[in-house]
Amino acid sequence: MLKITYERMQTHHKIIVGNSQQMPELEDGSIHLMVTSPPYPMIAMWDDLFRSVDPKIAKLWQKLVADGDEAAVRQIYILMHDYLGKVWAETYRVLCDGGIACINIGDATRSIGGKFQLFPNHVHITENCEKIGFTTLPYILWKKPTNKPSYKGKGAFLGSGFLPPNAYVTLDCEFILLFRKGRLRKFEPHQKERYNSAFSKQERDEWFSQIWAFKGTRQTASEIERRTAAYPDEIAERLIRMFSVKGDMVLDPFLGSGTTTKVAMLTERNSIGYEMDENLLPLIAKKIGCTAANQAITKIIKR
Ligand SMILES: C[S@@+](CC[C@H](N)C(=O)[O-])C[C@H]1O[C@@H](n2cnc3c(N)ncnc32)[C@H](O)[C@@H]1O
Repeated sequence: MLKITYERMQTHHKIIVGNSQQMPELEDGSIHLMVTSPPYPMIAMWDDLFRSVDPKIAKLWQKLVADGDEAAVRQIYILMHDYLGKVWAETYRVLCDGGIACINIGDATRSIGGKFQLFPNHVHITENCEKIGFTTLPYILWKKPTNKPSYKGKGAFLGSGFLPPNAYVTLDCEFILLFRKGRLRKFEPHQKERYNSAFSKQERDEWFSQIWAFKGTRQTASEIERRTAAYPDEIAERLIRMFSVKGDMVLDPFLGSGTTTKVAMLTERNSIGYEMDENLLPLIAKKIGCTAANQAITKIIKR
């Protein structure tokens, strides 16, 4: 068995408090990997955010509430994806040739005006990323041991829920969408960092299978922590180790509580995270402060 020894690398980490639709701090082609989870369109916990960032969404929402205008729902949904799409386009600019983008997203179900429907966020993101120029790769389904089956959009099967046809399939998976910019990344033959970043056979077999089934992060803590809908460290760790090598630069344009930065530190990658909610800074500091990555240098930049 090949045994590789190396010293722990010093890495650099930046957290930028600002909107990642524009990332002027980053040069074209300077990022090797993006790992992120955006606010999910049509999931109630993110409604306020989308209304606050786009006045057109706020206006259409008022119309929806006032007249129950169904066409407004579709327009709102598209505008939410337009908002995210600007970040995917900016990510495309800053990724290097062969760089990978990993996007954790859930679909949404919702009853609007008494009509229950699916909002397939993974489809819209895939279509938008393809329009931008990304190549779509096979995705991962993250199976979350959460919800009960639903009847007419309510939480669980009730009474007549045993009778066809008005029950719905439960959404118990989220997507981890994978895209590549350009061609395969090129490396020098036997490049040390690449060999030092190898995963084991067991890791490869598990991580490169399509369904990942482990528990979601425990959403105990404070209200503010729940608000970020953090993904488990293990999601970030697998993706960073699958799609980057030690010393690479990893971007998270929707940093939330700082999970990606924390894991980048622990896996010896450099990182840049954008978060526009300044109130999350103490939470981020707490999360990345408790890592064992004592050789990491962190800068927080307020635009
Ligand atoms: C789903 S959370 C990310 C959770 C993160 N993966 C974690 O583990 O904590 C999405 C975050 O994106 C932030 N956000 C939304 N739009 C943004 C933008 N344009 N630029 C920067 N941050 C944004 C929100 O404030 C929110 O904290």
